[in-house]
Amino acid sequence: MNLGKKVIYQAYPRSFKDTSGNGIGDLEGIRQKADYFKKLGVDMVWINPFFVSPQNDNGYDIADYYHVDPLFGTDEELDKLIETFDEKGLGLMFDMVLNHTSTSHEWFQKALDGDEYYQDFYYIRDGKDGSYPNNWTSKFGGPAWNKFGDTDKYYLCLYDKTQADLNWHNKNVRKEVYKIVNYWIDKGIKGFRFDVLNVIGKSKDLKDSSGNIDEEKKLYTDTRIVHEWIEELNKNTFGKDEDIITVGEMSSTDVHNSALYSNPEGSELSMVFSFHHLKVDYKDGEKWTDASFDFKKLKGTLNYWQGEMQEHSGWNALFFNNHDQTRANTRFGDVDKYHYQTSTMLAQTIHLMRGTPFIYQGEEIGMTDPDYDSIGDYRDVESLNAYDALLAKGMSEDDALKIIKLKSRDNSRTPMQWNDSSNAGFSEETPWIRVNDNYKEINVKKALADKNSIFYYYKKLIEHRKEENLISDGLYFPILEDDENILAFVREYEGNVLVNFSNFTGKSLEVDLENMVDSYQEYEYLLGNYGRVEINKKINLRPYECLALIKRF
Ligand code: NOJ
Repeated sequence: MNLGKKVIYQAYPRSFKDTSGNGIGDLEGIRQKADYFKKLGVDMVWINPFFVSPQNDNGYDIADYYHVDPLFGTDEELDKLIETFDEKGLGLMFDMVLNHTSTSHEWFQKALDGDEYYQDFYYIRDGKDGSYPNNWTSKFGGPAWNKFGDTDKYYLCLYDKTQADLNWHNKNVRKEVYKIVNYWIDKGIKGFRFDVLNVIGKSKDLKDSSGNIDEEKKLYTDTRIVHEWIEELNKNTFGKDEDIITVGEMSSTDVHNSALYSNPEGSELSMVFSFHHLKVDYKDGEKWTDASFDFKKLKGTLNYWQGEMQEHSGWNALFFNNHDQTRANTRFGDVDKYHYQTSTMLAQTIHLMRGTPFIYQGEEIGMTDPDYDSIGDYRDVESLNAYDALLAKGMSEDDALKIIKLKSRDNSRTPMQWNDSSNAGFSEETPWIRVNDNYKEINVKKALADKNSIFYYYKKLIEHRKEENLISDGLYFPILEDDENILAFVREYEGNVLVNFSNFTGKSLEVDLENMVDSYQEYEYLLGNYGRVEINKKINLRPYECLALIKRF
């Protein structure tokens, strides 16, 4: 399979389309939009977890891996969704959360009841010196341990306290995990996204960290055993079917390990999500701060990952947006003045790179972060914990809200904007989270009616990837590496060359083609968000302009 020819769409079920009238999106809503995905031209749709769950982390706290949560529909509706997608030639990618289960999961409940077999499914340890078993911190704030029932023990929870980390050292855990994945393979599922897969390999001794968060992460991230377990998972499940696409969500990973995870021998996964290119608006490594983005860091990180993954034969999942990130157009561009240009420029930058692009729902119509004015509008557990932590540090409510507004995961979780009717056509009832006020201007109905909309730009990008081997298979080389405003690169394949420029500013900038490519006169226009341009020695890049030129051998 040529992964370079694939494009994957991410549907966040909660916010995609509500057909049952409970204010929460559902599986039937995704099924009804099958033709929408076809029109866009994607190959597969990744759906975030819809399994039975108390929903403390919007489904990433799974209580039963085999059944649909009634919030999202029924098992029969899931079968119908699988059938419809199959008929239409669309793949489905399921989200497997295998680092942890909900504490409501039967295994954890049995462990609480004293069943030792299931106690060994988790990391349950005695406290130390009247405190927690070690000094690790949760990624959602506070200690990474929580009291195990009414015993003196604690269980490890790297995320929310209702998400208990699974002990992969226990063979029986790994067997259960294979059973789950194989169950869905037998149902015809051809794609799997594995949640935070690179943190499954904690060492058994769970030793204290130095207190430095980066050093702490190293104790349980990308450890040697993770590769062994992923290989084992591969052999026992999806490795049997070459048509299955897998992507590992890799938290705080590095290029060396990512290349191994996505090695061309196929002994681990098809590709990885890494996040360094999105940690470019953090102050001193801290997410919950008010810092503007560092363009040179963004560009340097993207170029580094493109270059190194190519060098070591790894494969990147390409993305700027997902359900854990604020909307890239709001974050890296100017959506007030240059909404179309910003949204398409970001899309083109990613879609012309080496890897497999992912489109997060709403991105294809240029959805933006909402303008919430109260903490009461927010729903996300991570954001609410962060808000409390900021207040506890002495910050004023206004300042804390300002930071939540900039960084909250809820920014991308607002309901999909289908049309300009009430609730943006997402639901007939009040949605679980407030609709973005701009739904009358930004919605699917409007985008589909305008051949020059962002939607059709995405469609064109997908078509180009399918048609041009340069895009799907070409080598990647950065150019203009020191430029402070433009991200530019070259792709090369069998003597053909593509060059792409992305202006990340609201200013007009000039580039001198002659200095960058051989015989610029031989290049033709391929795609740009200001339409066709004449190719001269000097090219003027307008605000947030992107421009791809091609030279055929
Ligand atoms: C990564 C998921 O994308 C995120 O939404 C979730 O909160 C954590 N993993 C924990 O499962």
